[in-house]
Amino acid sequence: MKTVGISLKKLKNEIKKDFKMARDLKGLNDVFNKYLGKHDGELNRILRSLEKLPKEKRARIGKEANKLKEYIKQKIEIKTEKMRLLTVPVNKKEWFDITVPGKRPLFGHLHPLTKIKRKVEEIFESMGFSIIEGPEIENEWYNFDALNFPKEHPARDTIDTFWLKSNHLKLLLRTHTSPVQIRYMEKNNPPLRIIVPGRVFRREATDASHEINFYHLEGLMVDKAVSAANFKAVIQEFYRRFFGKPVKVRFIPTFFPFVEPGFQVDISCLNCQGKGCSACQQTGWMEMMGAGMVHPNVLKNSRLNPKFLQGFAFGMGIERLVMMKYKINDIRLFYSGDLRFLQQF
Ligand code: FA5
Repeated sequence: MKTVGISLKKLKNEIKKDFKMARDLKGLNDVFNKYLGKHDGELNRILRSLEKLPKEKRARIGKEANKLKEYIKQKIEIKTEKMRLLTVPVNKKEWFDITVPGKRPLFGHLHPLTKIKRKVEEIFESMGFSIIEGPEIENEWYNFDALNFPKEHPARDTIDTFWLKSNHLKLLLRTHTSPVQIRYMEKNNPPLRIIVPGRVFRREATDASHEINFYHLEGLMVDKAVSAANFKAVIQEFYRRFFGKPVKVRFIPTFFPFVEPGFQVDISCLNCQGKGCSACQQTGWMEMMGAGMVHPNVLKNSRLNPKFLQGFAFGMGIERLVMMKYKINDIRLFYSGDLRFLQQF
């Protein structure tokens, strides 16, 4: 039985040589069959002959023969995997050099208009205003009639407004977000405190401060005893928080059909603190928005009683607010899609 022991050592060397010679999967298969082939594999033959050995030798030699069997199997597994990788055709395009320094991916970010709109919303929300939305396609009643626009008002003209072709109701692209005042008051009982941000459209020539499509933010507060003084306090606090410093506010009388009285709201020039500079054309003031006390006809058109209720409303352009905050001199930049402009925010 000693011979079996010796032949196992010899066999291992022979197996090693055969593995070295095996160049492909077929070669590996030949090695497997030579030693572990079911009928005439050399190692299998030895394993079968073990039963003829005395008990202790059988155990020792059996252990070694099984180790050798395991060695062959593992070696075949490892070499097969290596050969498989070598035989897969290398796609040159897929190859990459892990030593090349990485490229920083381009991350998008919010548009400056969105950032400022959110900031404005946040300030008003903290003062108890809810954010409300309305349709961009309006009808004539909500955009004009209910807001007390006289029938012959020039804003209704086809040269000022985009009218849509429709069969019955006269539809248009809303020219302001004020119609949402009516829609909201029809469905909700005072006290009311809302802001209405949204896109609006005007048919006019574009220039550095005018677009045909821009963003409005309407505000409305209605209760039993809401005054212009309340409005001044709210708006002064809004500007203080928005610009991060105290600003003076003044009202100039003006006309909007849906308010009485109506005001133009100015703030002290941020550039020169009211002293007078080119930005404010030496006046020390900057025009910010339209506002006023809600007209009794508007309350009536919304099924509220003006005898017991009153309120203020205001409307500002978001682009102009952003332009003031970041000192941007042309409104058209917001919609140009120019990344050199957008990447500055
Ligand atoms: C109005 O639209 C009123 N609805 C505002 C209002 C609401 C008054 C409630 C009273 C009570 P006006 O047409 O002035 O008002 O527009 C409001 C703001 O929108 C302006 O102050 C300006 O900042 C901005 N704006 C007006 N037209 C344009 C335009 N073509 N492009 C960009 N911004 C504009």
